[in-house]
Amino acid sequence: MALFRKKKPQRMKGKLFTKQDDLKDLPPMVEVTGVHRTYESGAEPVRVLKGVSLKVQRGEMVALMGPSGSGKTTLLNVIGLLDTPDSGTVKFAGIDVTDLKRRKVPLFRQNEVGMIFQQKNLIPSLTAFENVYLPFRYARGKRKAGREQAREALRLVGMLERENHLPNQLSGGEQQRVAVARALVLSPAVVLADEPTGELDHKTSDDVMDLLQELNEQTGQTFVIVTHDHSVADRADRVLNMDDGKVVPEKRQAPRKRPATKPRKLAPKNRKKK
Ligand SMILES: Nc1ncnc2c1ncn2[C@@H]1O[C@H](COP(=O)(O)OP(=O)(O)OP(=O)(O)O)[C@@H](O)[C@H]1O
Ligand SMILES: [Mg+2]
Repeated sequence: MALFRKKKPQRMKGKLFTKQDDLKDLPPMVEVTGVHRTYESGAEPVRVLKGVSLKVQRGEMVALMGPSGSGKTTLLNVIGLLDTPDSGTVKFAGIDVTDLKRRKVPLFRQNEVGMIFQQKNLIPSLTAFENVYLPFRYARGKRKAGREQAREALRLVGMLERENHLPNQLSGGEQQRVAVARALVLSPAVVLADEPTGELDHKTSDDVMDLLQELNEQTGQTFVIVTHDHSVADRADRVLNMDDGKVVPEKRQAPRKRPATKPRKLAPKNRKKK
């Protein structure tokens, strides 16, 4: 299955990956250029994004920080095609997605973008399995394979034994692991997470970050993680800061922090024999 992809993407599936992929010659996985977004809904227009530009390379894990109200969620929604910028472009692997015909957006999002939010990620009336299986529910011809993939994703995040539990029968950290499984079940090229550990205690937050980091290292998927937590940002390859509706890069001295403990063994089936 495609959930695990080597950093050197020889067998990457999906439109954004080809067998000929050569990382250094390819355009960035995400490229935002001069994005503006103003909310006009209230009495006064709120200018939130004032010419945001950023690049995220393939396989990179980037943390996005900045004060409350600085526009991080708005930017993530624009990148994830949940919101449309007033001007500027968003490109995925060199493809201008701001140009996508409206009817193509849902399919593109489903295949290439996984999203994880701070809370309320799961549908309360559906079990862990049903939540992860959701993207396959209406995909004709993929239902059987989808069941396997959903189980595989749950196994990957260590939640397969709890597949029949409803969200309110799971702890916050467990729910977030199920949400990670759902975001990754279709092996998207890019995973966008908005304060994924915001509701979790320190230990659970560390566990969820271990998981995201392991996935990033093993699959080569690209991650953008919004966070207020410096211990989360320390796990990223690079930190970007939002300030006054723009992104300013932060110089990092130390290399990305690794998990303190030995990484959990992930899905032996997916590991290639040396
Ligand atoms: N639908 C909306 N209509 C009007 N204003 C909005 C809307 N959504 C967000 N805003 C405003 O845009 C600004 C940026 O909001 P956004 O949610 O992007 O901030 P944020 O950086 O994610 O903050 P936080 O760290 O608190 O999550 C805020 O001032 C907010 O009030
Ligand atoms: Mg926010």
